[in-house]
Amino acid sequence: MNYEAFAAQLDHIQERATASLAGIDASDALAAWEREFLGGKGELTMLMRSLGGIEAGQRPDAGRRANEVKKGMTAAYSAKEAAIKFGGLTTRLAAEAVDVTLPGRKPNIGYAHPISLMIEELSEIFALMGFQTVFGPEVETTHYNFDLLNIPADHPARDVWDTMIVDTPSDAIVMRTHTSPMQARVMENTSPPVRVVVPGRTYRYEAQDASHEWMFHQLEGLAVDKTIRMSDLKGVLQELARQLFGPTRRIRFRCDFFPFVEPGVDFAVDCAICYGKGCRVCKGSGWLEMGGAGMVHPNVLRGVGIDPEVYTGFAFGLGVERMLMMRHGINDVRAFAANDLRFLAEFASFSAHAGRGSSV
Ligand code: FA5
Repeated sequence: MNYEAFAAQLDHIQERATASLAGIDASDALAAWEREFLGGKGELTMLMRSLGGIEAGQRPDAGRRANEVKKGMTAAYSAKEAAIKFGGLTTRLAAEAVDVTLPGRKPNIGYAHPISLMIEELSEIFALMGFQTVFGPEVETTHYNFDLLNIPADHPARDVWDTMIVDTPSDAIVMRTHTSPMQARVMENTSPPVRVVVPGRTYRYEAQDASHEWMFHQLEGLAVDKTIRMSDLKGVLQELARQLFGPTRRIRFRCDFFPFVEPGVDFAVDCAICYGKGCRVCKGSGWLEMGGAGMVHPNVLRGVGIDPEVYTGFAFGLGVERMLMMRHGINDVRAFAANDLRFLAEFASFSAHAGRGSSV
């Protein structure tokens, strides 16, 4: 090969190598480029091996030019290698960037249902007054739901409780219409002194409206001892009203009839919204009904083997939804079972155990 042909090939290789390198942006393509031009069998290496064929006078010149080209291509290779490495890092950094100034994403934490919260609060209030919380069956026998509560079969008082009857041949199984059957169940199993509260679901065959549900919750209270008097009942309910609705609350008792108490009362608390003046929540009366109560009827005590000459007791039954409605000015009881998360979420902040997500 003569010098001119060598120089022309050298230029040609340099041109193609430079053009090809410009389009490379990944390390595997760069390695292929290196093999193609600079490697042991690469074009430049092969060309340089042919230096021996050049006339001796021109060989040093040809060798110098070839070395310059090789140096230039090696430097370009190193620069590209660094660029790819650095470029990869920049891309990674951009892809993995974290904006530490962004507010965090809040995890979606569950919270207890307002009725669960209310029952928990009521249990705590009564626990401080010495009452234990117990639970009873929602499917009851008429024996406990009525008979032992001094409401014999065919007594007109049974009609007051619009009972859902479970389909059995004897019609003796019902959905409990109130939590009062637990009075008898507890007294059968516990000798006095007795102090219990019983929260839970109750069922009535009722047309639904703003203040009536077919399924709702009650909290029963029962105290039996040797010296229980009506004043004890008043004291306990007064304390309940104070704890629930504030220290200045007053309560009102009015005569009412329940076959399982004598005397029987309904009791109300003066409206915490208008302080007794009369408003929309208390329907202008200034009073909010909380439930029924009274002294345990001697027949009920006798029915469970407790001597009414020795022991006396009081009992009460509260509507749990009613308590919540009064406390928060809610005007429709159906909101509690409607499962509208916007309504339920309003109570999230009342949940001392947010996250537990319990339901009744
Ligand atoms: C009773 O159920 C009696 N067992 C209460 C009682 C217990 C009296 C112990 C004496 C001694 P009453 O039917 O009035 O009583 O219901 C009590 C409370 O449950 C009511 O004041 C009301 O707050 C609530 N309640 C009754 N029916 C419904 C209903 N359909 N929807 C929502 N709450 C109701």
